[in-house]
Amino acid sequence: MNDKQLVAIEAAKHVENGMLLGLGTGSTADLFIEELARRMKDDKLKFKVVSSSAASARKAGDLGLQLVEMDDISHLDLYVDGADEVTPDLTLLKGRGADLVKEKLLAKAAGQFFVLIDQSKLVSRIGEKYPIPVEVPAFSWQLVKHSLEQAGGQVVLRKKDGQPAVSSHGSWILDVTFEPRLDAATLDDLLNGTPGVVEHGIFRGLARGVFMAENGNVTQRWA
Ligand code: A5P
Repeated sequence: MNDKQLVAIEAAKHVENGMLLGLGTGSTADLFIEELARRMKDDKLKFKVVSSSAASARKAGDLGLQLVEMDDISHLDLYVDGADEVTPDLTLLKGRGADLVKEKLLAKAAGQFFVLIDQSKLVSRIGEKYPIPVEVPAFSWQLVKHSLEQAGGQVVLRKKDGQPAVSSHGSWILDVTFEPRLDAATLDDLLNGTPGVVEHGIFRGLARGVFMAENGNVTQRWA
């Protein structure tokens, strides 16, 4: 069993009968969905799920999980997802998979938000390994780019097959780095206060628990 499977299994132990669960996106979130399907079958566990992406919804549907639409819910019990970076104070960077609008909505609406990672995701500061994904409506991308450059950012429009990459929300994505480096709180405030930004990948004060696997051992950190 690999490290990602281990954290998925550990997190799924927290699922109880009757819960409404948020499903994340990515390889680790996929393993959590598979473990949910196993518990549904073997443990006769009953729960409903809401998905952060079309990919996770498809996987959940294929495995027979009971899906509800996001526009039918106002709260959920538990959201479980991966992350691209995690700092010691449990600030996250997410959005490499271009689904961050729904991911942040579910993280905020959930009673608890668990993050599943392996050791490679640990960083000392946000932006250490990846640029910050910033979703913008297509019409605003140049104005937001200019605005973030004025604030010291280097901005690259994310492309896929030579065309602007489109998020599951229908937005375009700017990948932004800042030099000199800014702390996560300053970046969060800056991006939240920039007109034309739909959402961005810094998740501050949202993670309740981080499950990290390393060489076959799972450690848990709690906010
Ligand atoms: C999706 O937008 C991201 O936030 C993912 O949670 C992240 O890329 C983690 O993916 P893995 O579990 O595949 O590393």
